[in-house]
Amino acid sequence: MSDETKMSFEELKREYQLAQERIAALTVLQDVARNLTSELDLNKLLREILHSAVRVLKASAGSLLLWDEVTNELVFAVTDGGAGEALEGRRMPADRGIAGWVFTNRRPDIVHDVRSNERFYSAIDESLGYHTSSLVAVPMITKGQGIGVLEVLNKKSGERFDENDCDILYALAGQAAIAIMNARLYQEIREEKDRIIALEEDVRKELARDFHDGPAQTLSAMIMAIELVETLPEPISESVAAGLAELRAMATKTLHQVRNMIFELRPVILKTQGLEPALHSYVERLREVEEMNIHLKVEGLEERLPAKLEEICFSIIQEAINNVKRHANEENVWLTAVRRGDEFEVVVKDDGEGFDLTEVERSYDRQGKLGLLNMRERAEMIGGRLSIESAPGKGTTVTLNVPLPS
Ligand SMILES: Nc1ncnc2c1ncn2[C@@H]1O[C@H](COP(=O)(O)OP(=O)(O)O)[C@@H](O)[C@H]1O
Ligand SMILES: [Mg+2]
Repeated sequence: MSDETKMSFEELKREYQLAQERIAALTVLQDVARNLTSELDLNKLLREILHSAVRVLKASAGSLLLWDEVTNELVFAVTDGGAGEALEGRRMPADRGIAGWVFTNRRPDIVHDVRSNERFYSAIDESLGYHTSSLVAVPMITKGQGIGVLEVLNKKSGERFDENDCDILYALAGQAAIAIMNARLYQEIREEKDRIIALEEDVRKELARDFHDGPAQTLSAMIMAIELVETLPEPISESVAAGLAELRAMATKTLHQVRNMIFELRPVILKTQGLEPALHSYVERLREVEEMNIHLKVEGLEERLPAKLEEICFSIIQEAINNVKRHANEENVWLTAVRRGDEFEVVVKDDGEGFDLTEVERSYDRQGKLGLLNMRERAEMIGGRLSIESAPGKGTTVTLNVPLPS
């Protein structure tokens, strides 16, 4: 073999090795990307992105900066290794430093000997006493909009970052940007839902107050007035007396109904005395006013649960009971609320007509229904899980499981 061909063989071997390394990195990258898009918790997602970047590029540290649109700054959202958490939350003008340049120009950058680089923003690196010798930084862009910068520092092997590393990090940043946008959208939707639920809560309170101050007061006064007429000394005919008695009974029934509505809207006893007394009072009303054959079992609720949890559990129970009232045509209802250690379980079970859950869920959007969805969302708000079991002719069981803070 001539010297020339031997050289090119060595070169070939080197090229081959590089290609192998590249394929390995891309495979990891693909895995990472797949995992990222399913992560909707923004903070966790950011950590995962950065950790993957540091791992794939065999770097010793890294940071992920997000653009703050309001102040036009780059914020260190998460860091990995190196100077560590001291950096998190620190901000710098969006056009300063290497990250700023990368962000503003929407272009990746590899920098060796960082300190002598004219773009180096020493205000941060120096104050942390971490020496960066080699760095690769890439912009995170989605839909033409820059959202931040991903940078990794100092290869573990001591080698310098090269174009190859830069390409891989850039590809990762593209996937990361999409995942971040997804998680942000998801978070916005959640916040919107929380706002709607809070708004509904306010409306309920207001309605309850209006009912209390208006119709309930008037009805009480009406009943008193009728009773007063009934006790007057003047003689009245039997038919008038019977008419008055009927009026009094009707007014009394209406007052009960109104008080029931007030309770449904805002069970004060839930706030003042807790879930167990509220459930007893609720069940009492259901028996009296709705003539519901309901069996209540409460266990382990001597101590009160967190207020928000009590409120949400109660509203889920109300929703489930309302469905029984409206749809089940049942003989019996069983309501159980049992706490065992750090687990709380609520079950609302009826022996009514039942329904085809799959069918109902399929046509849900079209019918503009909210009950089942509301229950599920409320359960999620307290980190719980709601399951519904039903079949035509087999009754319905709604189960809520909530982990409790120990
Ligand atoms: N306990 C139940 N028994 C029978 N059918 C039920 C029960 N709970 C729910 N359903 C069925 O599920 C549907 C969806 O319930 P929901 O989302 O609360 O909407 P809505 O009560 O406004 O109809 C109901 O229309 C009803 O057909
Ligand atoms: Mg309903």
